[in-house]
Amino acid sequence: MDFSVKMNLPAKQSSDCLILGVFEGSKLSEAAERFNTASQGILSKCLAKGDLEATLGSTLLLQEVPHTQSDRILLVCCGPKKELNDKEFRELLRKTVSALHQTGIKEAVCFLTELSVKKRDIAWKTRQIVQLFLESTYRFDIFKSKKDKDTKGRRLKRVLLMTTNKSESLKAQRAIIEAQAIVEGLHFVKDLGNCPPNICTPRYLAKVAEHLAASHSTISTAILDEKEIKALKMGALLAVGQGSVEPPRLITLEYRGRNDKQKPIVLVGKGVTFDTGGNSLKPPMGMIGMKFDMCGAATVLGVIKAAALLELPLNIVGVIAAAENMPGGSATRPDDIVTSMSGISIEILNTDAEGRLVLCDALTYCERFKPDVVIDIATLTSACAVALGQYASGLLSNHAPLAKDLLEAGQNAGDRCWELPLWEDYQEALNSACADIANIGTPAEAGTILGACFLQRFAKDYHWAHLDVAATASKGNAKDRSATGRPLPLLMQYLLDRAQKANS
Ligand code: BES
Ligand code: MN
Ligand code: ZN
Repeated sequence: MDFSVKMNLPAKQSSDCLILGVFEGSKLSEAAERFNTASQGILSKCLAKGDLEATLGSTLLLQEVPHTQSDRILLVCCGPKKELNDKEFRELLRKTVSALHQTGIKEAVCFLTELSVKKRDIAWKTRQIVQLFLESTYRFDIFKSKKDKDTKGRRLKRVLLMTTNKSESLKAQRAIIEAQAIVEGLHFVKDLGNCPPNICTPRYLAKVAEHLAASHSTISTAILDEKEIKALKMGALLAVGQGSVEPPRLITLEYRGRNDKQKPIVLVGKGVTFDTGGNSLKPPMGMIGMKFDMCGAATVLGVIKAAALLELPLNIVGVIAAAENMPGGSATRPDDIVTSMSGISIEILNTDAEGRLVLCDALTYCERFKPDVVIDIATLTSACAVALGQYASGLLSNHAPLAKDLLEAGQNAGDRCWELPLWEDYQEALNSACADIANIGTPAEAGTILGACFLQRFAKDYHWAHLDVAATASKGNAKDRSATGRPLPLLMQYLLDRAQKANS
């Protein structure tokens, strides 16, 4: 699907469809008013018949409206005539694109850019339109012998976005480019997240990283195998991988968008390619969907890809701790004690709290990059679903300005996170009788905070934030679950904001 910006609709421009907004009570938007006048009041006549339901996002397709040079007009109800909020604007876009997909329309001229959305400019509105239209075409059917017959989203080929002046046009053009890169990254994260665990192993993730580096001159990668991980004394990462026939990997990607020595933004991803719980085995229903336990890693790869596509003027490092958490005779037991790369000894009381084990060594490894900030992304605790549900990723940080930036980026990208406290009080729950720290808390309450408290001990030397995406990286029920690509939109917004600051 291609997008372009048009400032004035040339009188002779013909198209398959015009997309026009209408408010409740048959009040026409500015553009709709123009076409109504041109067509001698046909739009108001149709509306007077009551064919357009007065709920946000309901649509009415009109055919052969005279004097419009367009085959069809799609009227979209935008609710009562007032400023929309983010959620309403997105909702009406989702319904608009789904209505378009039910037709044979190949090309559309979209006037929804003219709607006012509270505190949002043309760039934001354009980004939303392009992202939601493109996202509607995503399918994961590479493993289906019969591909989806429905051609949904495959017919609509071209969308023209209307703007009213030159400065709007320039902003909208840039927004299209950003949205396209973000969606490319998002689909990449979804594909990787949805990939089954018999294919997507730690070695597979390493291959994906190598492939990214081979296709972008600004990206390089370094893969550490089991021997090298051992040489670095990453006892915690090794412990998680030791029950699996698939060896662990520590994957580093470097994106250099600048020639200077600007300190990098380091992204750390949990790459547990399948989480059985290990010898603290999960129950069958709790194990379904544990292929998504590498979504943090997928996000790191996708963000670096999208940053490279946009040539962001930043230096970014990705670190992925990849391992498969399996039970068995060579797997760790509850009661085992291992020593992490930092020298901190860890009593593993529950082998299912493995995410913090792979991440703690990755966090220590990050020190060598002299990071500006470190952000880890992990499907870490099911408690996060209890605390925040699917609506927000958990955010915990040792640096208030970083937390604030991430909160704002999430809000602007429609991919929210919400902060939980990291008060000192919680730390004592992680005390261990025999080692420096235990990998689960007693008492176990506030599981998301305790997971972050564990990680915090390894992130003392830099500004750090932790995104717990256990409830946001995938959605659906056990049988019908799929990767969402989150929190890539949040992180891309954060990086775009950082790039803007670096330039100004
Ligand atoms: N990968 C899981 C967290 C998870 C659970 C993500 C459900 C998505 C859906 C993580 O490794 C885990 O098992 N966490 C345990 C921690 C507990 C043992 C302290 C949990 O949340 O139950
Ligand atoms: Mn687990
Ligand atoms: Zn896990």
